[in-house]
Amino acid sequence: MTDISSEKTKNTEFEPTRAIRSLSEDVENSMLDAPRSLPAKYFYDERGSLLFDKICDSPEYYPTRIESALLKEVAKDVIDTSRPEYILELGSGTSRKTRHLFDACSSSQCFPVYTAVDVCDEILVESKNALEKEYGWLKVNTVSGDYTGGLGNLPKNNAKNLFVFLGGTIGNFSPKEANVFLSEIREVMTPDDLLLIGADRVKEPEILHAAYNDDEGVTAEFNLNLLEVLNRELDADFNTTKFEHYAYYNPLLSQIEMHLVSMREQKIRMKNLNKEVHFLEGDHILTEISRKFTRVELERLLIDAGFKIEKHYEAEEMKFSLILAGTD
Ligand code: AVJ
Repeated sequence: MTDISSEKTKNTEFEPTRAIRSLSEDVENSMLDAPRSLPAKYFYDERGSLLFDKICDSPEYYPTRIESALLKEVAKDVIDTSRPEYILELGSGTSRKTRHLFDACSSSQCFPVYTAVDVCDEILVESKNALEKEYGWLKVNTVSGDYTGGLGNLPKNNAKNLFVFLGGTIGNFSPKEANVFLSEIREVMTPDDLLLIGADRVKEPEILHAAYNDDEGVTAEFNLNLLEVLNRELDADFNTTKFEHYAYYNPLLSQIEMHLVSMREQKIRMKNLNKEVHFLEGDHILTEISRKFTRVELERLLIDAGFKIEKHYEAEEMKFSLILAGTD
Protein backbone atom coordinates (compact mmCIF):
# COMPACT_ATOMS: atom_id res chain seq x y z
CA MET A 1 0.00 0.00 0.00
CA THR A 2 1.24 3.47 -0.80
CA ASP A 3 0.82 5.94 1.97
CA ILE A 4 -0.73 8.87 0.13
CA SER A 5 -0.20 11.33 2.98
CA SER A 6 3.57 10.87 3.03
CA GLU A 7 3.71 10.79 -0.78
CA LYS A 8 1.85 14.07 -0.79
CA THR A 9 4.71 15.89 0.86
CA LYS A 10 6.74 15.17 -2.27
CA ASN A 11 4.77 17.67 -4.34
CA THR A 12 6.67 20.90 -4.48
CA GLU A 13 4.29 23.80 -4.08
CA PHE A 14 4.73 26.77 -6.32
CA GLU A 15 3.59 30.15 -5.12
CA PRO A 16 1.81 32.66 -7.33
CA THR A 17 3.78 35.77 -8.24
CA ARG A 18 0.77 37.99 -7.89
CA ALA A 19 -2.26 37.97 -5.67
CA ILE A 20 -4.88 35.51 -6.84
CA ARG A 21 -8.35 35.37 -5.42
CA SER A 22 -9.18 32.58 -3.01
CA LEU A 23 -12.30 30.52 -3.61
CA SER A 24 -14.11 32.59 -0.95
CA GLU A 25 -13.11 35.80 -2.70
CA ASP A 26 -14.21 34.47 -6.09
CA VAL A 27 -17.56 33.49 -4.59
CA GLU A 28 -17.97 36.89 -2.91
CA ASN A 29 -17.01 38.58 -6.15
CA SER A 30 -19.08 36.74 -8.72
CA MET A 31 -21.56 34.34 -7.12
CA LEU A 32 -23.72 36.46 -4.87
CA ASP A 33 -25.62 38.32 -7.60
CA ALA A 34 -26.44 37.72 -11.26
CA PRO A 35 -24.66 37.37 -13.64
CA ARG A 36 -23.00 34.61 -11.63
CA SER A 37 -19.83 32.83 -12.63
CA LEU A 38 -16.90 30.87 -11.20
CA PRO A 39 -13.45 30.14 -12.62
CA ALA A 40 -13.22 26.72 -14.28
CA LYS A 41 -10.18 25.74 -12.22
CA TYR A 42 -12.42 24.85 -9.26
CA PHE A 43 -13.73 21.79 -11.10
CA TYR A 44 -10.52 19.93 -10.48
CA ASP A 45 -10.61 18.44 -7.01
CA GLU A 46 -9.82 14.72 -6.97
CA ARG A 47 -13.33 13.69 -8.02
CA GLY A 48 -13.46 16.42 -10.67
CA SER A 49 -10.12 15.36 -12.12
CA LEU A 50 -11.32 11.76 -12.31
CA LEU A 51 -14.62 12.83 -13.85
CA PHE A 52 -12.75 14.84 -16.47
CA ASP A 53 -10.75 11.72 -17.27
CA LYS A 54 -14.05 9.87 -17.66
CA ILE A 55 -15.35 12.59 -20.01
CA CYS A 56 -12.31 11.90 -22.17
CA ASP A 57 -13.51 8.30 -22.55
CA SER A 58 -17.02 9.29 -23.61
CA PRO A 59 -17.77 8.70 -27.30
CA GLU A 60 -18.97 12.28 -27.81
CA TYR A 61 -15.96 14.08 -26.34
CA TYR A 62 -13.71 14.07 -29.40
CA PRO A 63 -10.99 16.58 -28.33
CA THR A 64 -8.94 14.18 -26.21
CA ARG A 65 -9.07 11.34 -28.72
CA ILE A 66 -8.23 13.56 -31.68
CA GLU A 67 -5.48 15.42 -29.84
CA SER A 68 -4.05 12.18 -28.53
CA ALA A 69 -4.00 10.59 -31.99
CA LEU A 70 -2.40 13.71 -33.46
CA LEU A 71 0.20 13.83 -30.69
CA LYS A 72 1.00 10.18 -31.22
CA GLU A 73 1.58 10.91 -34.89
CA VAL A 74 3.80 13.95 -34.39
CA ALA A 75 5.50 13.13 -31.07
CA LYS A 76 8.70 11.96 -32.71
CA ASP A 77 8.92 15.15 -34.75
CA VAL A 78 8.26 17.23 -31.62
CA ILE A 79 10.98 15.44 -29.65
CA ASP A 80 13.50 15.43 -32.50
CA THR A 81 12.89 19.15 -33.08
CA SER A 82 13.08 20.12 -29.41
CA ARG A 83 15.49 17.53 -27.87
CA PRO A 84 14.37 18.68 -24.40
CA GLU A 85 16.24 18.13 -21.15
CA TYR A 86 13.07 19.00 -19.29
CA ILE A 87 9.45 18.56 -20.27
CA LEU A 88 7.33 20.89 -18.15
CA GLU A 89 3.60 20.35 -18.44
CA LEU A 90 1.08 22.87 -17.18
CA GLY A 91 -2.17 21.21 -16.08
CA SER A 92 -0.77 17.70 -16.38
CA GLY A 93 -3.76 15.88 -14.88
CA THR A 94 -3.23 12.15 -15.32
CA SER A 95 -0.56 12.83 -18.02
CA ARG A 96 -2.36 10.41 -20.32
CA LYS A 97 -1.55 12.07 -23.64
CA THR A 98 1.94 13.07 -22.53
CA ARG A 99 2.85 9.38 -22.69
CA HIS A 100 3.11 9.75 -26.47
CA LEU A 101 5.93 12.20 -25.91
CA PHE A 102 7.65 9.81 -23.48
CA ASP A 103 7.33 6.98 -25.99
CA ALA A 104 8.94 9.19 -28.62
CA CYS A 105 11.67 10.10 -26.12
CA SER A 106 12.41 6.41 -25.58
CA SER A 107 12.73 5.76 -29.31
CA SER A 108 14.73 8.93 -29.99
CA GLN A 109 17.12 8.26 -27.09
CA CYS A 110 16.22 11.54 -25.43
CA PHE A 111 15.69 11.29 -21.67
CA PRO A 112 14.27 14.48 -20.21
CA VAL A 113 13.10 15.05 -16.66
CA TYR A 114 9.32 15.53 -16.47
CA THR A 115 7.94 18.34 -14.37
CA ALA A 116 4.19 17.94 -13.92
CA VAL A 117 2.32 21.02 -12.72
CA ASP A 118 -1.29 20.74 -11.59
CA VAL A 119 -3.78 22.18 -9.09
CA CYS A 120 -4.72 18.71 -7.89
CA ASP A 121 -2.30 17.15 -5.37
CA GLU A 122 -3.81 13.67 -5.44
CA ILE A 123 -3.65 13.37 -9.22
CA LEU A 124 -0.01 14.48 -9.23
CA VAL A 125 0.98 11.77 -6.78
CA GLU A 126 -0.97 9.08 -8.62
CA SER A 127 0.42 9.96 -12.03
CA LYS A 128 4.00 10.22 -10.78
CA ASN A 129 3.78 6.72 -9.32
CA ALA A 130 2.24 5.29 -12.48
CA LEU A 131 4.66 7.03 -14.85
CA GLU A 132 7.81 6.06 -12.98
CA LYS A 133 6.64 2.47 -13.02
CA GLU A 134 5.92 2.58 -16.75
CA TYR A 135 9.06 4.41 -17.86
CA GLY A 136 12.19 3.12 -16.16
CA TRP A 137 14.24 6.14 -17.24
CA LEU A 138 11.72 8.82 -16.33
CA LYS A 139 12.18 11.09 -13.33
CA VAL A 140 9.01 12.97 -12.44
CA ASN A 141 8.92 16.18 -10.42
CA THR A 142 5.46 17.05 -9.21
CA VAL A 143 4.65 20.68 -8.66
CA SER A 144 1.30 21.72 -7.26
CA GLY A 145 -0.06 25.18 -7.73
CA ASP A 146 -2.32 27.50 -9.65
CA TYR A 147 -0.73 28.60 -12.91
CA THR A 148 -3.18 31.48 -13.26
CA GLY A 149 -1.19 33.30 -10.57
CA GLY A 150 1.90 33.80 -12.74
CA LEU A 151 4.76 31.45 -13.57
CA GLY A 152 7.70 33.34 -12.10
CA ASN A 153 8.07 30.86 -9.24
CA LEU A 154 8.15 27.72 -11.33
CA PRO A 155 11.30 25.67 -10.68
CA LYS A 156 14.06 27.05 -12.92
CA ASN A 157 16.91 25.33 -14.70
CA ASN A 158 19.60 26.25 -17.21
CA ALA A 159 18.63 23.45 -19.52
CA LYS A 160 16.52 23.10 -22.62
CA ASN A 161 12.82 23.02 -21.84
CA LEU A 162 9.80 21.85 -23.72
CA PHE A 163 6.76 23.51 -22.17
CA VAL A 164 3.55 21.61 -22.77
CA PHE A 165 -0.01 22.90 -22.48
CA LEU A 166 -2.44 20.38 -23.91
CA GLY A 167 -6.15 19.67 -24.00
CA GLY A 168 -7.31 22.95 -25.40
CA THR A 169 -7.38 24.45 -21.93
CA ILE A 170 -6.22 27.75 -23.46
CA GLY A 171 -9.88 27.92 -24.56
CA ASN A 172 -10.98 28.29 -20.95
CA PHE A 173 -9.42 31.75 -20.86
CA SER A 174 -10.96 34.96 -22.14
CA PRO A 175 -8.98 36.53 -25.00
CA LYS A 176 -7.33 38.90 -22.52
CA GLU A 177 -6.51 36.13 -20.01
CA ALA A 178 -5.13 33.94 -22.80
CA ASN A 179 -2.79 36.72 -23.88
CA VAL A 180 -1.60 37.30 -20.30
CA PHE A 181 -1.07 33.58 -19.70
CA LEU A 182 0.80 32.95 -22.96
CA SER A 183 2.93 36.05 -22.39
CA GLU A 184 3.84 34.67 -18.98
CA ILE A 185 4.94 31.37 -20.50
CA ARG A 186 6.90 33.33 -23.09
CA GLU A 187 8.57 35.30 -20.29
CA VAL A 188 9.96 32.25 -18.49
CA MET A 189 11.24 30.72 -21.75
CA THR A 190 14.81 31.07 -22.97
CA PRO A 191 15.66 31.15 -26.72
CA ASP A 192 16.33 27.39 -26.75
CA ASP A 193 12.96 26.49 -25.24
CA LEU A 194 9.83 25.52 -27.10
CA LEU A 195 6.13 25.43 -26.27
CA LEU A 196 3.79 22.69 -27.44
CA ILE A 197 0.20 23.85 -27.15
CA GLY A 198 -3.04 22.12 -28.10
CA ALA A 199 -6.23 23.95 -29.02
CA ASP A 200 -9.65 22.96 -30.25
CA ARG A 201 -10.86 24.25 -33.59
CA VAL A 202 -14.12 25.78 -34.74
CA LYS A 203 -16.38 23.10 -36.19
CA GLU A 204 -20.02 22.16 -36.74
CA PRO A 205 -22.13 23.19 -33.74
CA GLU A 206 -23.72 19.69 -33.58
CA ILE A 207 -20.37 18.05 -32.87
CA LEU A 208 -19.50 20.68 -30.28
CA HIS A 209 -22.88 20.45 -28.62
CA ALA A 210 -22.67 16.67 -28.31
CA ALA A 211 -19.16 16.85 -26.87
CA TYR A 212 -20.39 18.90 -23.93
CA ASN A 213 -23.69 17.05 -23.53
CA ASP A 214 -22.69 13.39 -23.52
CA ASP A 215 -25.52 10.89 -23.29
CA GLU A 216 -24.21 9.20 -20.21
CA GLY A 217 -24.26 12.51 -18.34
CA VAL A 218 -20.61 12.49 -17.29
CA THR A 219 -20.15 16.14 -18.28
CA ALA A 220 -23.26 16.99 -16.24
CA GLU A 221 -21.76 15.19 -13.25
CA PHE A 222 -18.46 17.00 -13.77
CA ASN A 223 -20.25 20.35 -13.87
CA LEU A 224 -22.41 19.59 -10.82
CA ASN A 225 -19.34 18.43 -8.88
CA LEU A 226 -18.45 22.12 -8.64
CA LEU A 227 -21.33 22.48 -6.18
CA GLU A 228 -19.86 19.66 -4.09
CA VAL A 229 -16.57 21.55 -4.06
CA LEU A 230 -18.42 24.60 -2.73
CA ASN A 231 -20.24 22.49 -0.16
CA ARG A 232 -16.98 21.10 1.13
CA GLU A 233 -14.82 24.22 0.95
CA LEU A 234 -17.39 26.77 2.11
CA ASP A 235 -19.63 24.54 4.19
CA ALA A 236 -22.46 25.33 1.78
CA ASP A 237 -25.69 23.37 1.33
CA PHE A 238 -26.13 23.06 -2.43
CA ASN A 239 -28.36 20.16 -3.42
CA THR A 240 -27.07 18.92 -6.77
CA THR A 241 -30.50 17.55 -7.72
CA LYS A 242 -31.88 21.09 -7.72
CA PHE A 243 -29.45 22.30 -10.39
CA GLU A 244 -29.06 21.21 -13.96
CA HIS A 245 -26.15 21.08 -16.36
CA TYR A 246 -26.62 23.32 -19.39
CA ALA A 247 -24.05 23.70 -22.15
CA TYR A 248 -24.41 25.21 -25.61
CA TYR A 249 -22.23 26.50 -28.39
CA ASN A 250 -22.31 30.26 -28.90
CA PRO A 251 -21.33 30.67 -32.55
CA LEU A 252 -20.97 34.45 -32.26
CA LEU A 253 -18.13 34.07 -29.77
CA SER A 254 -17.02 30.63 -31.04
CA GLN A 255 -17.26 29.20 -27.57
CA ILE A 256 -19.01 26.57 -25.52
CA GLU A 257 -20.68 28.13 -22.50
CA MET A 258 -21.36 25.81 -19.63
CA HIS A 259 -23.81 26.68 -16.88
CA LEU A 260 -25.50 25.31 -13.78
CA VAL A 261 -29.16 26.29 -13.79
CA SER A 262 -31.28 26.53 -10.66
CA MET A 263 -34.35 24.34 -11.13
CA ARG A 264 -36.40 26.31 -8.60
CA GLU A 265 -36.28 29.22 -6.28
CA GLN A 266 -33.90 28.38 -3.46
CA LYS A 267 -31.67 29.85 -0.79
CA ILE A 268 -28.19 28.44 -0.33
CA ARG A 269 -26.33 28.95 2.92
CA MET A 270 -22.56 29.25 2.86
CA LYS A 271 -21.58 28.95 6.47
CA ASN A 272 -17.89 29.76 6.05
CA LEU A 273 -18.76 33.04 4.38
CA ASN A 274 -21.69 33.68 6.63
CA LYS A 275 -23.71 34.42 3.49
CA GLU A 276 -26.93 33.27 1.92
CA VAL A 277 -27.36 33.21 -1.85
CA HIS A 278 -30.79 33.53 -3.36
CA PHE A 279 -31.51 31.77 -6.67
CA LEU A 280 -34.70 32.24 -8.65
CA GLU A 281 -35.88 29.44 -10.90
CA GLY A 282 -33.75 29.64 -14.04
CA ASP A 283 -30.95 31.63 -12.40
CA HIS A 284 -27.64 30.27 -13.54
CA ILE A 285 -23.92 30.16 -12.87
CA LEU A 286 -21.48 30.34 -15.78
CA THR A 287 -18.95 27.66 -14.85
CA GLU A 288 -16.81 27.46 -18.00
CA ILE A 289 -16.20 28.88 -21.41
CA SER A 290 -14.35 26.70 -23.89
CA ARG A 291 -13.27 28.69 -26.92
CA LYS A 292 -12.78 27.15 -30.33
CA PHE A 293 -10.26 28.69 -32.72
CA THR A 294 -9.57 28.97 -36.40
CA ARG A 295 -6.07 28.21 -37.61
CA VAL A 296 -5.31 31.89 -38.12
CA GLU A 297 -6.74 33.01 -34.77
CA LEU A 298 -4.58 30.50 -32.98
CA GLU A 299 -1.38 31.58 -34.67
CA ARG A 300 -2.29 35.21 -34.05
CA LEU A 301 -2.85 34.46 -30.34
CA LEU A 302 0.66 33.05 -30.07
CA ILE A 303 2.34 35.70 -32.18
CA ASP A 304 0.67 38.46 -30.13
CA ALA A 305 2.18 36.91 -27.00
CA GLY A 306 5.69 37.04 -28.50
CA PHE A 307 5.98 33.56 -30.00
CA LYS A 308 7.00 32.43 -33.43
CA ILE A 309 5.32 29.40 -34.96
CA GLU A 310 7.75 26.55 -35.64
CA LYS A 311 5.23 23.91 -36.64
CA HIS A 312 1.48 23.78 -36.88
CA TYR A 313 0.18 20.20 -36.82
CA GLU A 314 -3.47 19.68 -37.71
CA ALA A 315 -5.66 16.69 -36.99
CA GLU A 316 -7.91 15.05 -39.56
CA GLU A 317 -10.61 17.38 -40.86
CA MET A 318 -8.85 20.20 -39.00
CA LYS A 319 -10.62 19.23 -35.81
CA PHE A 320 -7.72 20.07 -33.51
CA SER A 321 -4.37 21.89 -33.60
CA LEU A 322 -1.04 21.26 -31.97
CA ILE A 323 1.44 24.08 -32.34
CA LEU A 324 5.12 24.01 -31.57
CA ALA A 325 6.21 27.57 -30.94
CA GLY A 326 9.49 29.20 -30.11
CA THR A 327 10.45 32.57 -28.72
CA ASP A 328 10.43 35.32 -31.30
C1 AVJ B 1 -9.93 20.44 -20.09
C2 AVJ B 1 -10.64 22.64 -20.34
C3 AVJ B 1 -10.00 21.42 -22.25
O1 AVJ B 1 -12.90 22.82 -22.22
O2 AVJ B 1 -13.16 20.96 -23.28
C4 AVJ B 1 -14.65 19.10 -20.82
C5 AVJ B 1 -12.91 20.78 -19.95
N1 AVJ B 1 -15.40 20.83 -19.79
N2 AVJ B 1 -16.00 19.04 -20.79
C6 AVJ B 1 -12.78 21.59 -22.30
C7 AVJ B 1 -14.28 20.24 -20.18
C8 AVJ B 1 -16.44 20.08 -20.17
C9 AVJ B 1 -12.07 20.83 -21.19
N3 AVJ B 1 -10.69 21.34 -20.96
